[in-house]
This record gives sequence, structure tokens and C-alpha cells, in this order.
Amino acid sequence: MPSRLRLVAFRPRPLLVTSIIMQSVFIFFICLPVVIVNSLFCFWNSGCPYRHFSTKTPYNLVRGDIRDSVIKVKGCTAVSIWSLYRHGKRYPNKHSAHLMENAVAIRNHIADSFENGKCSLCAQDVDNVINWKVDHRLFKGITELTDEGYREMYSIANRLKATFPDLLTNLKENEFTFRPTADDRMEESAQAFVDGIGERLSIEQLKVNDSITPYTSCGKYGSEVKDNPKTFEESSKYQKSSEYLAMKDRIQRRAGLDIKLTDDNVTALYDLCRYTWSGIDSIASPWCAVFTSEDLQVLEYVEDLNQYYKSGYGSPMNELLGHIILADLLKSFQQVKNGNGKRITAYFSESTTIDMTLSALGLFKDKDVLRGSQRNRDRKWRSFKQSSFSANIMAVLSRCYLNGNEDYTVVFYLNEEPIKSICLEGICPWKEFEDKFKPFLDTNIDFCEFNAIR
Ligand SMILES: *[C@@H]1O[C@H](CO)[C@@H](O)[C@H](O)[C@H]1NC(C)=O
Ligand SMILES: *[C@@H]1O[C@H](CO)[C@@H](O)[C@H](O)[C@H]1NC(C)=O
Repeated sequence: MPSRLRLVAFRPRPLLVTSIIMQSVFIFFICLPVVIVNSLFCFWNSGCPYRHFSTKTPYNLVRGDIRDSVIKVKGCTAVSIWSLYRHGKRYPNKHSAHLMENAVAIRNHIADSFENGKCSLCAQDVDNVINWKVDHRLFKGITELTDEGYREMYSIANRLKATFPDLLTNLKENEFTFRPTADDRMEESAQAFVDGIGERLSIEQLKVNDSITPYTSCGKYGSEVKDNPKTFEESSKYQKSSEYLAMKDRIQRRAGLDIKLTDDNVTALYDLCRYTWSGIDSIASPWCAVFTSEDLQVLEYVEDLNQYYKSGYGSPMNELLGHIILADLLKSFQQVKNGNGKRITAYFSESTTIDMTLSALGLFKDKDVLRGSQRNRDRKWRSFKQSSFSANIMAVLSRCYLNGNEDYTVVFYLNEEPIKSICLEGICPWKEFEDKFKPFLDTNIDFCEFNAIR
């Protein structure tokens, strides 16, 4: 049935039947088909569309707000912040950009099938896709930081400064570390962050051999995890599952496409939906209309599996490499306690770093290993939270005076929300923090065997 005819059925009819009984009978019989028609899903007015786009989720769709969520303990003053950020929203890489640019043409097929009454997308949703303006930077920017990415990082720093004004004002040369790993988007993210602090502060030179990305120089990680096809076996398996195939079929049918969608086409449409969603200006992407929430959850799982094996619990090396990063955190706070530490340490890196650190902390860990054979809808491992753009882990060290005694506490935050599971109520007394983190100082990564500088 052409969708315009279905929409006619939505119009409320004047109910002038006097008998209430007659009225209910009338409603029963007339509304039954209407209820079925009602399953027609309009994206543009759906109220709360699904917004978990795994590793391409804009930060504003997942963040908390450190100004509201900061845990204050009586008698304590923040003396240092150690933090780790994924770069802000970036443009797609060359491969994805190419597929996306081609996939824009799919909208012509959608328009045709709509004209011929074969497309069951809502009229407005079709209009919005047709009228979407091509932003050529999307295809030419190749992994560079986007304007939104800049604003994500700038705003985090801005909120952090508002939360800890004493700590982050008048920073002297030896009181801060802003260190991006070697890549433009990391460096631009670091610059955005420093701009957001609102002081002229220098950013460290890019280092190839960075302590915060131990995996880049770990030969075995490269050969056995990152570049090993086995790492992506479970997600490939999932992409052959009936659940995944049904998702493809749904898109094909709803959009009324005659062309047979390949996995690449689906991924390209997914990328168009995610990359053109503005989190910071709260503007939904019209491309997302080709997906139902269920479709988006299936696509999300593909990437969750990839991340799980590439940088999470799926490969044991990942946790161990994360220990190196946590050892840096401990050392950083020990130096502050000894009177020669930094007021702020901020590292800017990629999702792998964040995932490895979260894994080393034992967070988002499922009892059962994630597999391609079955999607656990209630899984803890979720890349949209862990590795959204600008995803971040912060640890705040405070000096406290309680009953005349000096002590320290550490509070952790993920995306500006307290992490309450590491210590009771989210507040780690110094001793508990040190006891938990000390073993990381002895992490042995001899298993890397050889050094593989990229
Ligand atoms: C669909 O994907 C294939 C490769 O899998 C590609 O050759 C083709 O151009 C894509 N079509 C569109 C419309 O993007
Ligand atoms: C990088 O780190 C590795 C392992 O720690 C070391 O063997 C190598 O000499 C370092 N290379 C550079 C250029 O600093």
C-alpha cells in the first residue's frame, strides 16, 4: 500500500456517535486497522530516537556534567587532575569517506521507490534525506578533527575549569602536562582543550614512543591482536547471523530499494547517519531514518565486538597494556603527594587507550565472553559509552584535613560522571587507591617481545 494512503488513515475522525457503546464498538472496529498502520515509524517526530552509535557517538549524547556531578568531600581540596581523552569528533577515514560518498546516491533510489509507492518511510523522512546538503568536508577531511570535535574538547576543559577554578587558574610552566599522541586530531584536540582552559599553555611535542600508548610499540600486540584477522572473527561471524541478515533485509524493504545492499553499503549508510548527527547542536541526522532502533542495535553490536577483541577483554594483552597507563596515574599522584607533581595531566589519544584503561580497571566486564553467535542485549561492554568521541577518564586527587590529620582521596569520573564501583561511594582513600594501583607498577610487558614503532 502506498504510504501516502496509509497516512490518510491517521486523520482523527470526528466522533459524533451518541451512544457510548456504539462509540466503543465503532472505535474497536475502525481503530484496529489504524493501530496496525500506526506501526509505520516516522523518524523525524519519534521523540527519542536511538542514539548509541558505538565508536562514532558524539560526546554530547553520552556525557554527564562535571560541574553537577563533582563529588565534594568536606575538608578536602582538589590538588591534581589526571585525565585521558579520546580525540574529539573527527571526519571519517579515507576508506569510509569513499564508501559514504558513493552511498549518498542511495537517496535517489529511495526517492524513486517513494514515488512508486514502494517505500514505507514517512514522507517527511524521505524529504529530509533528499534535501540533506552534502558537506564536502565530510568526505575530504579524512580523520581530522571536526568543528564539533573542537567544541567537545573545548567545552570539557571549560566545565573542568568552572569546577576547579583554583586548581586551573594561573598554571605555571612545570604544573601541567598536555600530551597528545602522534596524530593531527590528537594534537588539535589538545589545543581545543587548552583553549577551553583559557590560558596560554604549551602542548608537548608529539612523541612516537609514548608511555600512554604502550600498544603502539608492542610488537606482539600488533601481530597477534591489532593486525590479526582472528581479532575480527566474532564480528564477521555476527555479520553472517540471521539477526544481521534480517536487519539488512528490513532496511532494504522499508526503503524499497531495488539495488541489493552490500555490507559496505549498510556500513556507509550507518556512517552517514552517525557522522552527520550533531550532538553539540542537538540535530538528528536525517540519514538515521533508514534504520529502526533495532537495526541500529545490531550495527552497534558489530562494533562492540570489534572493540572487545581489539582493545578490551577479548584479548588478554589489552588489560596488561592498560596496567602501564594506570601505573602512570599512580606515579603522577605520588609525585603530587611528594610535592613536585602537576596540577593537571591530560593525555589525548584514541579509543584503544581508553578501552585498555577501562579493562585494566575491570569496568564494563561481562561474566560471559562476547560472541558473534549471540548478542547479549544486557551486556556491560558498550562502545558508545566507553569510546564515544571525546570519551574521557578523569581521576581527581584531593588533599584532606580530617581531625587534624592530612590524608588524600581519589575520585574517578567517566565522561564527567563519577565511577562509583572502584571504591565505596566512588571515593578512594589514599591507602585503598595505592593498594589497588601498586601492582600495576610491576607490570611486565616482555610478552611484546619486539618493538614495533609505527
Ligand atoms: C555498494 O557497495 C559496493 C561495494 O560493496 C560498491 O561497489 C557500490 O558502489 C555501493 N553502492 C552504493 C550506492 O554506495
Ligand atoms: C621506544 O620504547 C622501546 C621499549 O620501551 C625502546 O626499546 C625503544 O628504544 C624506544 N624508542 C625510542 C625511539 O625512544
